[in-house]
Amino acid sequence: MRMYDVIEKKRDGFELSTVEINFIIENYTNGTIPDYQMSALLMAIYFKGMTNEESAALTMAIVNSGKTVDLSRIEGIKVDKHSTGGVGDTTTLILAPLVASAGVVVPKMSGRGLGHTGGTIDKLESIPGFHVEITNDQFVELVNKNHLAIIGQSDNLAPADKLLYSLRDVTATVNSIPLISSSIMSKKIASGADAIVLDVKTGSGAFMKTKEDAIKLAENMVEIGKRVGKKTVAIISNMEQPLGFAIGNALEIKEAIKTLKGQGPKDLTELSIELGSHMVVLANKAKTTAEAKEILFENIQSGKAIHVFQTFIKSQGGDEHIVQDSSLLPQAHNQIPIYSKETGLITRLIADQIGRAAMMLGAGRQTKDSVIDLAVGIEVHKKLGDEVKKGDVLFTIHSNEKDISQIKRMLDTSFEIGNAKVNDQLILETII
Ligand code: URA
Ligand code: CA
Repeated sequence: MRMYDVIEKKRDGFELSTVEINFIIENYTNGTIPDYQMSALLMAIYFKGMTNEESAALTMAIVNSGKTVDLSRIEGIKVDKHSTGGVGDTTTLILAPLVASAGVVVPKMSGRGLGHTGGTIDKLESIPGFHVEITNDQFVELVNKNHLAIIGQSDNLAPADKLLYSLRDVTATVNSIPLISSSIMSKKIASGADAIVLDVKTGSGAFMKTKEDAIKLAENMVEIGKRVGKKTVAIISNMEQPLGFAIGNALEIKEAIKTLKGQGPKDLTELSIELGSHMVVLANKAKTTAEAKEILFENIQSGKAIHVFQTFIKSQGGDEHIVQDSSLLPQAHNQIPIYSKETGLITRLIADQIGRAAMMLGAGRQTKDSVIDLAVGIEVHKKLGDEVKKGDVLFTIHSNEKDISQIKRMLDTSFEIGNAKVNDQLILETII
């Protein structure tokens, strides 16, 4: 088989066979196929697309480029969740203990973040003492005991995805639905998930700017799941504004604790319950999502959910007292309020700009090697549709820098105040 012929075939709009797809991924991963040929193929895929059959084959070829995680020593149906990424998305931190409290086993592999704020692991590391460097045996033991443990993503998980992603990043081919789908699904499958719940975000703060594209991406991933024997459910959620009130690592831990105690922001609570209910159903711990939601609400009210979170923190070396006393988390030296100069309704909140401001404060990484400041971030006090009066606090900047004039300027242009009521519906569709 020659790479040239495969490129030509895709360029002319034909379907690639599973044998051809396996050939490409295997030989690209071992270095036989050069970047320039792979780039040409990626661009052909970008323009010509892929059938569901091709994207399922690509997903499995990427899975097989590395080691897969064996979770067979963990009893029960392992349900994983993935979000396509948003600003201030604290849901994993809430969902993991919440569904574990309903009997779902959550052996979670997480990565570090790039961009707006840190990933789940960075956020957890703002808890004094908490660590994810545990052995596989400890991981299995903890999940069997507490239903929940989190471990860092291993380097040999889906290596082809790392190579492909870096190449896509510099060849303007990131934004292709079959390439995004296979990238996401391969990592979930390689990390041992039996079933997958996806939160596909749409709006100014998301990858997929339109609802139509978000639906296409979700349908493609659900279809891949079906074809490879992993039940997959996707919801489409709105990312026109940051989720919850907190953006920043320690700030989001604080917000997750509040939410697990039933005192969290409305949108973050709603999304966590919605995603969680699908996880509970997929794990056979409830018959319907309505029944699952009741269980989850009950576990928040009774304190069961926060108790699971506390046990989990302690089991991985963290100071569990942060649950009662959030002042034990890292705090920024300066808290600077930003006041409203007008009276009216919030008609726009530019999620990605607020996210970028948080990143520039040091809450997120510019490059893989950036060091992040776990204490800093932004609190958003007013959300879409909220009434504001002149002099009300719109944001609080948590900073360790002296000069934050640039951050202030970014926040000053990240919202609009008017008099029209905007649609702030959070959950737009469910795709099964
Ligand atoms: N997230 C991924 O993991 N892969 C993509 O291609 C896009 C978003
Ligand atoms: Ca948040």
